Amino acid sequence: MTKNSLFNPALIRDDFPILKLAVHGYPLAYLDNAATTQKPEQVVEAMQKYYFEQNANVHRGTYALTEIATVLFENARKKVQQFIHAQYPHECIFVRGTTEAINLVANGFSRSILKPQDEILVSQIEHHANIVPWQLVCKYTGAILRVIPCNDQGELLIDAYAALLGPKTKLVALTHISNVLGTINPIEKMIDMAHQNGTPILIDGAQAVAHQKIDVLALDCDFYAFSAHKMYGPTGVGVLYGKSEWLERLPPYQGGGEMIQSVSFDNTTYNMLPYKFEAGTMAICEAIGLGAAIDYLHHIGFDTIQQHENALLHYALTALENIPHFRFIGQAKARAPVISFVLGDVHPHDIGTILDQRGIAVRTGKHCAEPTLDRFGVNATVRASFAMYNTIQEIERLIKALLEVNMLFKRHYG
Ligand code: ALA
Repeated sequence: MTKNSLFNPALIRDDFPILKLAVHGYPLAYLDNAATTQKPEQVVEAMQKYYFEQNANVHRGTYALTEIATVLFENARKKVQQFIHAQYPHECIFVRGTTEAINLVANGFSRSILKPQDEILVSQIEHHANIVPWQLVCKYTGAILRVIPCNDQGELLIDAYAALLGPKTKLVALTHISNVLGTINPIEKMIDMAHQNGTPILIDGAQAVAHQKIDVLALDCDFYAFSAHKMYGPTGVGVLYGKSEWLERLPPYQGGGEMIQSVSFDNTTYNMLPYKFEAGTMAICEAIGLGAAIDYLHHIGFDTIQQHENALLHYALTALENIPHFRFIGQAKARAPVISFVLGDVHPHDIGTILDQRGIAVRTGKHCAEPTLDRFGVNATVRASFAMYNTIQEIERLIKALLEVNMLFKRHYG
């Protein structure tokens, strides 16, 4: 596949060996990409090559292998910098994933900035990873968590946001894309509004990075967090982008080797960025895998990816709507290829099990976002989420299987 060829998912599917699996006698239709994406051979090969030919610890020692490993690791950071259009590589901190990135910022704010009665703003459609760290921070500091509400479509109420921003607002922490509803938040405008109020803003980009180009400089966000495993890379590594001035200002998150400049029992001084936040041996192989995933995304190209995923999304939205008893949970105008739904009062877990019997993998339950489900008055949903390798045929299989669910539960509907 190249950027210029007519996009055919069949061609890139060959890069993902797992997609050839049969599940319960059916070809796997993997529609749980918001939970984690599958990995192309290019990513696994880069990681295998590292372990078989290049493995050593980084930034330590003077022998050839450690120098190679260090170059590979720092090249991965440069790829991240270019991927999100950060000004400097040192603004890209390797962490375990989005959750750790948010905890790092939460921890720093709690120890150096927040005072009792200060306010942190999150939205009603956040994942738990962008709620619970702030609740912990509020407990430690006496700060208060405020919530930007959403409408029945799952779109944030910008007037309510404007009203919540005030002199006490010390940070806004906002998801770029809802992992349940697929809503793409108007983050450009919301970042601007936060800054007009003199407030820094963190964007949780976990659900965005696989679907669209990210430009943190153009966005002007203060922090941007994401995980490699949701963008065709490995688990165990992610990135916290932070503007240099903020990263300089926050205290270290964890203590240990590498994050120090010098240590004595009387006085310890800290390393420069990014190492100040990278205590201990990092996930070196995974960072290299993330670099390979970035290469892969560039190779396909976001224009191509977006065009294909939007086609899948619109096909699915139109077809699903016609299924009797089908109800979308969230119908934002701006949305990513993530669809949550319920079908009559059939339990989503039953639907998930029936779909699995037909080889279709979806996520069911609360999606680590209970407040979002509460807002829509449901205990659980079924969620189908698409990636660049999904096909119209897989969506047709989903629709056929949902019609079968309707037949099986006919009596249920009375
Ligand atoms: N955030 C992941 C999901 O939405 C775990 O499935």
